[in-house]
Amino acid sequence: MARILITSALPYINGIKHLGNLAGSMLPADVYARFQRLRGHDVLYICATDEHGTPAELAAQKAGIAVSDYCDEQHEIQKSAGDGFSLSYDYFGRSSNSQNARLTQHFAHVLEERGLIEERTEKQVYSIDDGRFLPDRYVEGTCPHCDFEKARGDQCDNCGRLLDPIELKNPYSAVSGSTNIEIRDTTHLYLLQSKMQDDIREWVEKSTEWPQLAKSIALKWLDEGLQDRAITRDLSWGVPVAYEGKVREGFENKVFYVWFDAPIEYIGATQEWAEAKGEPEAWKSWWRTDEGADDVTYVQFMGKDNVAFHTVSFPVTILGSQEPWKLVDRLKAFNWVTWYGGKFSTSNNRGVFMDQALELLPSDYWRWYLMANAPEGSDAAFTWEGFQAAVNSDLANVLGNFVNRITKYTASKFDGEVPSTGEWGEAEDWIANELETRLTALAQHYEAMEFRKAAAETRAIWAAGNEYLTKAEPWVKYKSDVDAAAIGVRTGLNLAAIFGIIAQPLIPDAAAKILDALGIPEENRKFPTGDAKALLNALPHGLNITPPDVLFSKIEDTQITEWTEKFGGDG
Ligand code: MF3
Ligand code: ZN
Repeated sequence: MARILITSALPYINGIKHLGNLAGSMLPADVYARFQRLRGHDVLYICATDEHGTPAELAAQKAGIAVSDYCDEQHEIQKSAGDGFSLSYDYFGRSSNSQNARLTQHFAHVLEERGLIEERTEKQVYSIDDGRFLPDRYVEGTCPHCDFEKARGDQCDNCGRLLDPIELKNPYSAVSGSTNIEIRDTTHLYLLQSKMQDDIREWVEKSTEWPQLAKSIALKWLDEGLQDRAITRDLSWGVPVAYEGKVREGFENKVFYVWFDAPIEYIGATQEWAEAKGEPEAWKSWWRTDEGADDVTYVQFMGKDNVAFHTVSFPVTILGSQEPWKLVDRLKAFNWVTWYGGKFSTSNNRGVFMDQALELLPSDYWRWYLMANAPEGSDAAFTWEGFQAAVNSDLANVLGNFVNRITKYTASKFDGEVPSTGEWGEAEDWIANELETRLTALAQHYEAMEFRKAAAETRAIWAAGNEYLTKAEPWVKYKSDVDAAAIGVRTGLNLAAIFGIIAQPLIPDAAAKILDALGIPEENRKFPTGDAKALLNALPHGLNITPPDVLFSKIEDTQITEWTEKFGGDG
């Protein structure tokens, strides 16, 4: 039994996530966690809300509430959306908790002791009316290069040049519009990433288990050379720049930068988990290599924009500390899910957000489509038409009909019992062969974290089952030879069980319905391995089964029309 630590990138606190966010980190992490649990491994799947930073502060201000109250609310919303999508976190923590604060302060302290942190004074844009320094995206003005009047602090959208916000002419606050702006000196802690360049490169190069997308992004950053970066900000909402309760002199109104503390929350949330279950030391065997974590495989899931932070910045924190912390072993990055090739946008009514999705259909429908079309090799477009086709054909026709047909037939012709008679024949040999190859392939796709392929293989197994029934024809044989029909029905019921078992990572709720209907006890729901012939005769003869309620209802054209109007579609 292996020990597998899984994290998905921590969703920002401000605002419920759309289906694209879900598909690019939390959902595949959940599918992978479920698969590894079914393999019998010891899995710990950790996530949390990423709560610090300017956007949260401003959102709270806009809502007219304290930022901590705002975060309390939003955390609950995201947590219940996660529950709604059956995301099987072992713990869903909060980066604003004390565990993360302590760890963040600890890391800053050790990094400074190792000579990797120094104070530097720089010039920044200060808005007198807002009473705050304005981070890059919150100051706008005229581009010093092309005179475009709405250049952002970090980049001019007209000429494309990267900017330093203090270069803008006629700067104004994007928060309030105020032009009452001055340039002030401010002192920050800098993490000297440049000193870690060689250590990080060495570590990246020996990481053999990273998929291509992740590795190439990491190497690109290393080739450009690691820049020292400020890890504090002039803000009030965040982890105080303190150590053991004592605030650093001159940093009374500053906090750590959100991107410094957020990944540390992977550890923080594991501590929250340990404390919540009353074993406060239990986090150590997952994170400290001197306390047992050297036998842990740590797998991270994230969108491609997060890769640099996870392959370079966070490892600088970890490796720079020279303490025995666990580093990522395998890292799976995703491209974007687009809305018909464009961006999801609340303001333009384009796209479906997690809470809205659940009002339309159960989570399995979305989970299936999003994973069958995972944005792995390239971006993947969500379209209503594609969604409808996937649900109606894969879930309703191929899987749903199979299970309904065979269980109903058993109920009407075999007293609802798994038949015990009949002779194994050619059709059974054929399906056993299919299963043997396909189940092996399916497990390999999951191990390789190839979610599209895993979904395709799952569907191929369901389809093979349908083909088996066409070959075995129990309903035809029943008229002349009940025993010949019985083997078809028994094999069909065992196939339904296998279909349910392998469906668990992708569509856990429907899978549970199938397995409950077939009376399969929890301990027999593990990922199937071994002799296919035995698998196809695993249900006890005479076992009572009940046909499940309709597993999936088809999506009608009228629904597609309605949803297209409501959430946007093509054009
Ligand atoms: N909140 C970030 C985002 O949504 C991800 C943070 S991942 C972490 O892009 F590791 F830093 F927490
Ligand atoms: Zn410009």
